[in-house]
Amino acid sequence: MRIIQPPVEPFRIKVVEAVDRTSGRERERLLRAAGYNVFGIPADKIFIDLLTDSGTSAMSDRQWSGMMVGDESYAGARSFYRFEKAVRDIFGFAHVIPTHQGRAAERILFETVVRKGDAVPNNIHFDTTQANVEVRGGRALNFVREEAYDPEADLPFKGDMDAAKLEAFLARNRSRVPVVMLTVTNNSGGGQPVSMANIRSVGAACRRHRVPFFFDACRFAENAYFIKRREKGYGSWALRDIARKMFSFADGATMSGKKDALANIGGFIALNDAALASRLKNLLIVSEGFPTYGGLTGRDLEAMARGLEEVLDDRYLEHRTGQMSYLGALLEEAGVPVFKPVGGHAVYVLADRLLPHIPREFFPAWALTVALYREAGVRAVEIGGVMFGKKNPKTGAETFPRLEMVRLAVPRRVYTAAHLQYVAGALAAIARKRERVRGFRIVEEPPFLRHFTARLEEVDS
Ligand code: F0G
Repeated sequence: MRIIQPPVEPFRIKVVEAVDRTSGRERERLLRAAGYNVFGIPADKIFIDLLTDSGTSAMSDRQWSGMMVGDESYAGARSFYRFEKAVRDIFGFAHVIPTHQGRAAERILFETVVRKGDAVPNNIHFDTTQANVEVRGGRALNFVREEAYDPEADLPFKGDMDAAKLEAFLARNRSRVPVVMLTVTNNSGGGQPVSMANIRSVGAACRRHRVPFFFDACRFAENAYFIKRREKGYGSWALRDIARKMFSFADGATMSGKKDALANIGGFIALNDAALASRLKNLLIVSEGFPTYGGLTGRDLEAMARGLEEVLDDRYLEHRTGQMSYLGALLEEAGVPVFKPVGGHAVYVLADRLLPHIPREFFPAWALTVALYREAGVRAVEIGGVMFGKKNPKTGAETFPRLEMVRLAVPRRVYTAAHLQYVAGALAAIARKRERVRGFRIVEEPPFLRHFTARLEEVDS
């Protein structure tokens, strides 16, 4: 058997948090009580939690020490200025507006600029971004390149937007497009990066049609690292310079600090347009707070500032992306099919290929999340028919999304190579007895975002 080398952790562990291993019987009881929905299982009954990479990062000693010197003043806190400088140094935008997390940034931006009937193009909208556009009566359009939906297409920049499609759309509809967004990396399309060349083309199209261009920048550091590694001409660049260049083509960004600011909470909007910035701040004050804290504590701002200073580190990002490659390689070796290439923050398992005996209407990806918890106490998230499918209220018939996947999102600096090996081992064990995994049917569901609270039951085989 080929030995797959794990990446070496570029940190040592100073504080530890115990995690409990439950018995198979306890997990069975918990699954039943939760309606076979892993969102309903208490976190301390999870051994390895790959539900999300959002807000789950381990902070560094520098970030924790920053928490002690956080300035909790209502207005003009020292921590705000430090945070503002950290954002400006990387993003290069003039105005920095803190928010409590990414979706608050989206809500404030879209509430200000999107009117009923408007369209907002993106490569692929994340679900909260889409919801924030739709709540305003807007249409959230996904213009990612076609290969993004092909799990076999092993391309370096599968997150790229189809720039010709954008150009054609703007030529016809520019007056109904208040903003164009670009998500880096493209979370809803497998965590795939966007190339600098594509960022440049999108920026040029937006300038030609005088439409503001904003990044959804949650995972900008991971994106910058892929540009350095995969795009011709950037191999010797400093990551900070790559990030600055990415943002130089845009007018602004919304950001969730829970990802690449390495913090447990926080977000921001950064932009150049002074008039728009002051409109956003007016709305911010109504719901989030005064513009120098935006719903956060001084210590949160301090943690984000220091996280941003740390995240563009070659060794950190080599290890981070190396963890995904390692997990992906272990799974392939075990015959578990994964979306290719692996993303920057997660590995996506192709559940319908792993469990071909479960028809789409019995939700194979959901079945795999249950099997993974049942087998090993590992929590992952279904990105398939339950999350993105729609039920016709008249006929009850389901329409399914193109891909039926389980996302194994890896929290930053939290798990070691041995943890990943354990996860791969659990999936390998499931693959060996795959025909015993059964499908699920929904017995209770809310009217929207049903995956969070739906209850399901196992289908008899
Ligand atoms: N945009 C993208 C691309 C995201 O992945 C997320 C969150 C958000 C915006 C919203 O940010 O959570 O701070 O409000 N993604 C998490 C995930 C929840 O699990 O993928 P938030």
